[in-house]
Amino acid sequence: MRVAVLSDIHGNLAALQAVLADVREQKVDELVVLGDLVSKGPEGNEVVEAIRGISRTRTTVIMGGGEELLAAPGRAGDCLPNSQRLALYIWEKERLTEESIQYLTALPYSHRVLLPGDAGGQIAFYHASPWNTVEIINPDAPNHVLEKLFVRTEDRIVCYGHIHRPFVRFVGGRVVVNAGSVGQPFDGDPRACYFLLSFQGGRCSFELRKIPYDVNVTINMARRTGMPGVEVYAEMMRNAMYPLASQD
Ligand SMILES: [Fe+2]
Repeated sequence: MRVAVLSDIHGNLAALQAVLADVREQKVDELVVLGDLVSKGPEGNEVVEAIRGISRTRTTVIMGGGEELLAAPGRAGDCLPNSQRLALYIWEKERLTEESIQYLTALPYSHRVLLPGDAGGQIAFYHASPWNTVEIINPDAPNHVLEKLFVRTEDRIVCYGHIHRPFVRFVGGRVVVNAGSVGQPFDGDPRACYFLLSFQGGRCSFELRKIPYDVNVTINMARRTGMPGVEVYAEMMRNAMYPLASQD
């Protein structure tokens, strides 16, 4: 069994198309998208349509912070926008069709996949954590923090996104995977990325796949469509780092 885990596309269609082309070549059995299809990027609607258009691979999409903000701004906690973010939020929401908004706001918060050959063992998927879509659990979090992610005894592997920095860590015989970000990485590498989980004959492997694409296509799209804050966005995308100067 092969499972592709994608996260945090953030309206970046060019990055998503590059990743989906690679996923097709990898012949996966299941694809899981860990939320943030939209928010802080130029082509949210196009990303939703591309994800909903996947037909040959069993695909599950779960709710991220960007989607929860559309559903109920008050529930998204510290994601509530300041004035700059508010302009971007309004601009993005206006560009989403009613159908896309309905789809995004009805997504589930988690997903589980049965592990082959491991009686009852499961992979659990979340956007940020089992408890909400906004919690920050960093790659260097202490083991006891990662252990809390295993909320069911059947969970052997937990995958999450949200922090845009991919990693895999082994904690007490179990595994935590952060899928990184397809469309807005913050690990200093501007390539799109996703994780490929493979299971065969009682063995499993966790492969971080880095996929090159032309980030200028996305930046130019943001300029052409009049996305608010585009210069900060362009710098963030080229450096693949969170722009600290623009933080709240
Ligand atoms: Fe995100």
